Amino acid sequence: MDEWIDYYDSTHTIYASRLHRDLHFQIIARDIIGYISSPDQVVLDYACGEALFAARVADACAGLYLAEPAPGVRGRLIARFAPNTKIRVRALEDLTRMAESSIDLVVMNSVAQYMTPEELDSAFAVVRRLLKPGGRFVLGDILRPDVGMARDVVALLKFARAHGFLKDALYGLASTALSDYRQLRSRVGLQRYSEDEMIRKLAAAGFSASRAGSNIGHNPWRTTFVARHALTHGAEQKD
Ligand SMILES: C[S@@+](CC[C@H](N)C(=O)[O-])C[C@H]1O[C@@H](n2cnc3c(N)ncnc32)[C@H](O)[C@@H]1O
Repeated sequence: MDEWIDYYDSTHTIYASRLHRDLHFQIIARDIIGYISSPDQVVLDYACGEALFAARVADACAGLYLAEPAPGVRGRLIARFAPNTKIRVRALEDLTRMAESSIDLVVMNSVAQYMTPEELDSAFAVVRRLLKPGGRFVLGDILRPDVGMARDVVALLKFARAHGFLKDALYGLASTALSDYRQLRSRVGLQRYSEDEMIRKLAAAGFSASRAGSNIGHNPWRTTFVARHALTHGAEQKD
């Protein structure tokens, strides 16, 4: 759904303030680091957005690919991380040309909701090809069919209160309610998956997956899944 890519390439109001935006990316970086099991791992952040704290992730691993479809965002990533030799910025199409079984950890956080189910299947195929047989694919911030937008609002307000930007969050919610986001969310919609649906979808793409104990990021009403190559021919998988 290209309209969401255009939205993320625009000067949107999804972050209520600079503090909100910075905290968001700090938490995402922290949670990604939590999935890196050794410093020699190569990591791919699929549709990473601004990834403001990606240097921290790069410090914790051997190399970090930042893949982003929005051209304006990607241009800023290239400029921001040019001095960091561990970080490489890629378009999503570039991923199909990368070496098979070259990545230890793929993270796709808060992206699946913006894709059609078919686009997500294609992305899963790209990820599966890139992932080493022992690697992990972490799919975060999946919206559930039984949880509506009100929970997103409550989660944001709790997060804002805990970090001292409640006033900005309230103002941000009001402007978001009047913005392209609201219009897009009601016109194009966001994809939602129950735990069973997502585990089946991942299985159809050749992954064996389970739900993680907690979601990546601040919203506990959304779900994270950890997937690996499904076992074939009785092969053993390691961490
Ligand atoms: C909410 S941001 C998430 C960014 C980052 N992963 C994070 O957790 O902060 C959504 C991301 O999905 C990307 N996106 C939107 N629609 C997409 C689509 N149809 N296919 C692939 N990526 C898409 C956007 O460019 C943006 O980077």
